[in-house]
Amino acid sequence: METTLIILKPDAVQRSLSGRIISRFEDKGLQIVGLKLMQISQQLAATHYEAHQSKPFYAGLVRFMTSSPVVVLAVRGNGAIGIARNMMGATFGSKANPGTIRGDFGVSNSFNLIHGSDSPEAAERELKLFFQPGEVLNWNRASETWVYDMSGGKPE
Ligand code: RTP
Ligand code: MG
Repeated sequence: METTLIILKPDAVQRSLSGRIISRFEDKGLQIVGLKLMQISQQLAATHYEAHQSKPFYAGLVRFMTSSPVVVLAVRGNGAIGIARNMMGATFGSKANPGTIRGDFGVSNSFNLIHGSDSPEAAERELKLFFQPGEVLNWNRASETWVYDMSGGKPE
């Protein structure tokens, strides 16, 4: 099972889309194992997006991400990192396909509603940045044996 960090960015929260976006992950069968509303500090935004420090959009990106509260989620499932990235769609709202979160809810390129970790290494790093020990819960989901075929002893 993989766990990925999802951030509903300030535009998603301000546009009251949090519930509908969270529902998409629940509807898909992914499990929410961490969830909170928070305001990202300058330092946290800088650390989270340090790979983009030299990019022309970096200053605007940090300003945007710290401008208003975000909802952060830890989302778990078999292949959750790639599944969540596919559900998010292409980076720019203007290019993202219909059926994806960015494709269905936005038109802007920089206000693109959602962040998702892009690799297992990134997920491990980012989950530690946004969740304190004990905030990600390993809980048993009643529907688990209907979300996955467990007949082979592992989730299929
Ligand atoms: P994210 O990290 O937020 O999940 O998005 P991503 O992987 O799809 O895109 P990435 O290349 O990592 O870019 C991070 C965020 O920077 C903003 N961006 N603006 N104006 C631009 O050319 C530009 N390029 C990227 C977006 O907010 C993007 O999500
Ligand atoms: Mg990225």
